[in-house]
Amino acid sequence: MTIRAVVKGVGHYLPERVVPNAELETLVDTTDEWITSRSGIKRRHYAAEGQTTSDLGTRAAQAALADAGLTADDIDAIIVATSTADLTFPSCATMVQGALGMTRGYAFDVQAVCAGFVFALNTANALIISGQVQRVLVIGAETFSRLMDWTDRSTCVLFGDGAGALVLEAATGTGTTADRGILSTDLHSDGRLRDILYVDGGTSTGTTGHLRMEGKEVFRHAVEKLAETAHLALDKVGLSGGDVDWIVPHQANIRIIEATAKRMQVPMDRVVVTVQDHGNTSAASIPLAMSIGKARGQIKTGDLLVAEAIGGGLAWGSVVLRW
Ligand code: UT7
Repeated sequence: MTIRAVVKGVGHYLPERVVPNAELETLVDTTDEWITSRSGIKRRHYAAEGQTTSDLGTRAAQAALADAGLTADDIDAIIVATSTADLTFPSCATMVQGALGMTRGYAFDVQAVCAGFVFALNTANALIISGQVQRVLVIGAETFSRLMDWTDRSTCVLFGDGAGALVLEAATGTGTTADRGILSTDLHSDGRLRDILYVDGGTSTGTTGHLRMEGKEVFRHAVEKLAETAHLALDKVGLSGGDVDWIVPHQANIRIIEATAKRMQVPMDRVVVTVQDHGNTSAASIPLAMSIGKARGQIKTGDLLVAEAIGGGLAWGSVVLRW
């Protein structure tokens, strides 16, 4: 008997305010043409004043719980992947727990920047398959608009706010790749690369800080490392790109998404793409794409998915799961 962590529900939340590229043309020396051709981004959502990451995460969690037909007290643990928690502490996850009115279980954050959701899925899977919990709410929630340097055109046009969530539930499988649920994961980090993508604030400065990125360097690592981690995760269970129904990539740049799909020999009509509408929402981008992919009728029960992401650290990884 094999225990699997199976997707029971999915949901997302995007703040109301939509900011098209044209609006950013009024802020920095940029054009819709540059942003579209270099990144694929056309618009992004920004949280309203006073609207926090935990607010976004709570809305996404409520949507995922409704989709699962469950309430908060059916959940044993909440994991929030975020780099933009409302406060230094308590965790964003405990704030979501409180907002959901959940009176049992436990909640904590995972911080692996844009790869956060993949790391959180790995942790949730470990909790479930070790028999410690039955149901985990895994949330990716971010307000990266709050980390932008609005004078830096090379970064401020790329990011957006949003949240997505999955409910994972323990189920009995056969131990084969025909099982629904998480089939394998693959994680990496390399702290030697900390200076190519970071936020220049924290306890060392007493400020929140701004995001700093050497875009070209991150791009180069992303193209190389994302296909590699996806292949490693598929290899672990004897699968290859040809078995994949949907790549659900981190949505940072359409050119990275296309290059990764090409290296995996998966055509673009089997890739869930939302970057044009959301920009880079860091740890929220994969669960957002899963929720939207399902709503569009792309992702169906039984489909084989590979989710892959890379971000600050650098930290990167992938998850193979049958929906
Ligand atoms: O989620 C975490 C992972 N992050 C990523 O995956 C991001 C990875 N990097 C990228 O997506 C791309 O490197 C960018 C989209 C950030 C930039 O694209 P690029 O093709 O690497 O452009 P570049 O940085 O080499 O910039 C080319 C030119 C420069 O001008 P010069 O030096 O050639 O005269 C920049 O100053 O474009 C200029 N530029 C802009 N021009 C108009 C930079 N930002 C802008 C802008 N509007 N917003």
